[in-house]
Formats: sequence, C-alpha cells, structure tokens
Amino acid sequence: MRRISDVDDLPGELLDLIASARRPAVLSGAGISAESGIPTFREVQTGLWERFSAQDLATVEAFEADPALVWTWYRWRQALIDAVDPNPGHRALAEWQHRLAAAGGRLSISTQNVDDLHERAGAEVLGHLHGAIAAHRCADCGAPAQLPPPRYDGSVPPAESEDPPACESCDRGKLRPGVVWFGEMLPMEAFEAAAESVRSADLVLVVGTSGIVQPAASLPLLALERGTALVEVNPEDTELTEVMDFAVRGGSGEMLPHLLTAAGVLEDPQDGH
Ligand code: OAD
Repeated sequence: MRRISDVDDLPGELLDLIASARRPAVLSGAGISAESGIPTFREVQTGLWERFSAQDLATVEAFEADPALVWTWYRWRQALIDAVDPNPGHRALAEWQHRLAAAGGRLSISTQNVDDLHERAGAEVLGHLHGAIAAHRCADCGAPAQLPPPRYDGSVPPAESEDPPACESCDRGKLRPGVVWFGEMLPMEAFEAAAESVRSADLVLVVGTSGIVQPAASLPLLALERGTALVEVNPEDTELTEVMDFAVRGGSGEMLPHLLTAAGVLEDPQDGH
C-alpha cells in the first residue's frame, strides 16, 4: 500500500489505473459530503443530542425509547442536507460518470450516505446502502409517506424536539426516516448491485468511509479477491487502508478533482475549455 499526500507528486501507476479504467466502482461514505458541511458520524454532536453519539440515535431501540428525540435529529439533518450543495468531489465523480458513459464505459456509485448530494451533482447512484433520509415510512405498517421539507434552519440545532407524525395509512404507527438503523437489514437490491459492481470493476475507489460499519465495509474486499486495484481517498487511515493499493490522503472535495484531472479523465479547468 502506498500513501500519497502530495498532490503534486501523484504516482504514474495510480494515474494510469484511473486513465485506463472503463468500469470503475465508487464506494462512498459520509466523508464525501463533509466538505459540503454535513458532519460525519464520528463527530461530536451539539444541542439536544450532545449527550448522544450518532450510533446511539440510529437504532430502533432509540426510536422506541424516545421517538421525538430521534425523529427531530433526522428531520434536522434533512434540513441541513437540503441547505447545502454538492462539493467538487461529488461533481468530479458525476462528470467522470458522464464521460465514461459517453465512451461506452460505466462508473457505478454505491453510497452509505442517506443524502442526495451525488444525485444533485448530476450523478446516477446505483444504490443507497443505508437508505434515504427523505424517504419516510410508517414504523408500524411500512406504508411510504410524503412529507413537506423540514422547517428547521439546518445551521442551528432546534431547541425542542417534535413528535413524529402519525401514519395516515394505518392510523396507528409513527412515521420514521427511510434510513437503515443498526441491527436492521440493508436493502438487499442495493447491496447486491454494489457487490456486483465491485466484482465486475476494473478499479475500486473507496471515498470518505471509516470502513467500520458492516456489511458495507466488506464490499471493497470483493475487489481484493479478484486482484482489482483499490484506491482510498480519505484524510485519515481507516479500517480498510491496509488492503488498499493506494491511499490518497486528503479531503475528497480537493483530491478527487485533482486526481481525475491529473489522470486526464477530466479536463483541467485551468485550460479554459
Ligand atoms: P464515518 O463517519 O464512520 O466516517 C467518515 C470518514 O470520512 C472517516 O474515515 C473520515 O476520515 C473521512 N473524512 C472526513 N472528512 C473527509 C473528507 N473531506 N473527504 C474524504 N473523507 C473524509 O462515515 P461512514 O463510514 O459513511 O450508518 O459511516 C458508515 C455508517 O455509519 C453510516 O452510513 C451510518 C453511520 O452510523 C447508519 O446509520 C446505519
């Protein structure tokens, strides 16, 4: 594994891998949205939730014990997501995806993120492994529910929690966010599609994930079995770093555009094209 932190000294072997990839698979996590202003899951929390870690809140048990606390956390995070924009990392991947598709290739993106920033950058996402924050459903009967956007200011944590709305289909249950909580099954279709994209990839990029949460963290290992090159983009070492061929150290909003431009798969904005 080679660690790279100097953007002006990218190894030719890494650039060649990117330049020659026709079916790259990208696996992204919270870190890719960090430079958009969305805190990752390991960051210290504030306001109503300062005594809780994100893991404490992301369980069925937490929702059952205090539905308002958990509901409001997700609604506020949804407001935060709505208020921010995709960053250059999301945009660089979207553009690479378009260029490869136009040339007969395919770039697939599977994400653990429940935000829609890849999509808003113009990318097509193969699967959201942990669901989508804006897709609500009844915690009891499972009926999907449409809600207006949250009325919170995403930059200020709310002072009080609000109860989740009641389900209009069964009149019994409470609405919950359409995310996967710890202990719950991942959407099988998204997981299988991601696994297949890694198995058929000629390069796997692992961007902004700590590699702690299973089974998503096992996906890069499918590339290992086939000897497919693995590249990590993350400012820090992770649980997955040691299986990587290259570990590019830095924020993905900065590193991805730089890497893809240096490899020649994106145009250099400095060239004025
Ligand atoms: P984590 O919060 O565990 O990890 C975020 C990763 O992003 C860390 O490795 C950081 O070093 C890295 N990072 C931080 N800033 C970055 C930047 N600017 N560019 C690139 N990387 C950066 O997030 P995930 O691995 O996505 O699950 O977490 C996995 C799951 O744990 C989440 O989907 C969620 C959470 O609990 C559930 O809710 C089930």
